[in-house]
Amino acid sequence: MSDYILKLKEISDQRGSLVAVEAFKNLPFEIKRVYYLYKLSQFPRGFHAHKTLRQFMVCLHGTVKVILDDGLGNKNNILLKNPNEGILIEPYMWHEMFEFSNDCVLVVFANDYYNEGDYIRSYDEFQVAVRSLPSV
Ligand code: TYD
Repeated sequence: MSDYILKLKEISDQRGSLVAVEAFKNLPFEIKRVYYLYKLSQFPRGFHAHKTLRQFMVCLHGTVKVILDDGLGNKNNILLKNPNEGILIEPYMWHEMFEFSNDCVLVVFANDYYNEGDYIRSYDEFQVAVRSLPSV
């Protein structure tokens, strides 16, 4: 599980806390897009993998659970609750977010623009795709 968690340096003093996310410094890819999720409900989200997109998800406020599934039988259930850590979601990693707290705010840093063609939204298709990757 810790393979997917990236801890970020928190700079805190009596005024509060600050965290910086910097491409190729504490994040292993360039940042072309940032999006955020809020006013989340009881409905889970995600349920897809990407073919090429690299992402880093941080829970800025509240809590959320995230399932990471490599399609080969390895599943991780991660509780995100600290704004100074996040999850690296690499290509071909099926992910599901659920049990959002009422005050949950998520921010995601991505290395490319939104492209529906990069999504795999069928779990069956995902499992077939993972098995046909050259490294497996
Ligand atoms: P989706 O990625 O399916 O959300 P989640 O994984 O949180 O369940 O995206 C939901 C909708 O928003 C879908 O219609 C695509 C659109 N969207 C954009 O237009 N731009 C973006 O950067 C993202 C992430 C989604």
